[in-house]
Amino acid sequence: MNEPGLSGAVALVTGAARGIGSAVTAALARAGAVVAGIDLLPEPWEDRGEKVTRLVADVTDPARMETVVEEVENLLGPIGVLVNVAGVLRTGAVTDFAEDDWNRVFAVNTSGVFHTSRAVARRMVPRRSGAIITVASNAGGVPRMGMAAYAASKAASAMFTRCLGLELAGYGIRCNVVSPGSTETVMQAGLDRRAVLEGDPATFRVGIPLGRVADPADIADAVTFLASDRARHITMQDLYVDGGATLRA
Ligand SMILES: NC(=O)c1ccc[n+]([C@@H]2O[C@H](COP(=O)([O-])OP(=O)(O)OC[C@H]3O[C@@H](n4cnc5c(N)ncnc54)[C@H](O)[C@@H]3O)[C@@H](O)[C@H]2O)c1
Repeated sequence: MNEPGLSGAVALVTGAARGIGSAVTAALARAGAVVAGIDLLPEPWEDRGEKVTRLVADVTDPARMETVVEEVENLLGPIGVLVNVAGVLRTGAVTDFAEDDWNRVFAVNTSGVFHTSRAVARRMVPRRSGAIITVASNAGGVPRMGMAAYAASKAASAMFTRCLGLELAGYGIRCNVVSPGSTETVMQAGLDRRAVLEGDPATFRVGIPLGRVADPADIADAVTFLASDRARHITMQDLYVDGGATLRA
């Protein structure tokens, strides 16, 4: 079903090879968008049956992000929607946390969002339209054991996106954040499912009040809404899609 404002719009999604990024590309395509996905991973990507132009690029490389954005515009036309999904999770206690892990988490989750958003925003500004959505994490809003680097990188990317929303509002460009909780993807595979669902007092973690781990499509639905004209008066917001897991504290 075509969504208002998305029919024929060019959408660029990072981290598109699998998981949430793949679900976002499929949802946007079903909503009528012409979709390009970029990912570090070469083929094969998850195939959800929708047409997606696939490009390989690393969001940590600012020069490459400029050229790949240019490539997408040359191939498909002006980008109207950007969704920053690429992300990495590295866990561990701060006292044992390696410099390389810290740097990688920030390079992808925070600097990657900056490089991609800057390259796209530069092109959206003269056109005075567009929507940018960053997929952050509910870990960016509540302290979590073993997740200091990841949570800090996501809090930074969320605030970056909201500040960008303020800078770009005068051009009619909206910038919002979707913060998922635990979602059924490769990234989630290493985590203790019972603790995720039921909570774990030993790590001061509450469970998921709605009693289920999210499907990537749940996150993609929120992104599609925020990208569409149905959200035309919504900017600088951070929508938690986590089944209540953070009690929105
Ligand atoms: N799965 C969860 O429970 C969960 C919860 C909260 C937030 N998130 C966030 O949602 C986003 C997607 O997560 P997912 O669960 O689908 O993870 P995933 O690991 O399944 O997919 C992430 C994708 O990003 C790509 N990627 C990683 N580094 C990249 C880089 N430098 N350049 C380009 N692409 C790169 C990967 O190759 C992969 O295809 C991430 O930002 C993640 O932090 C996930």
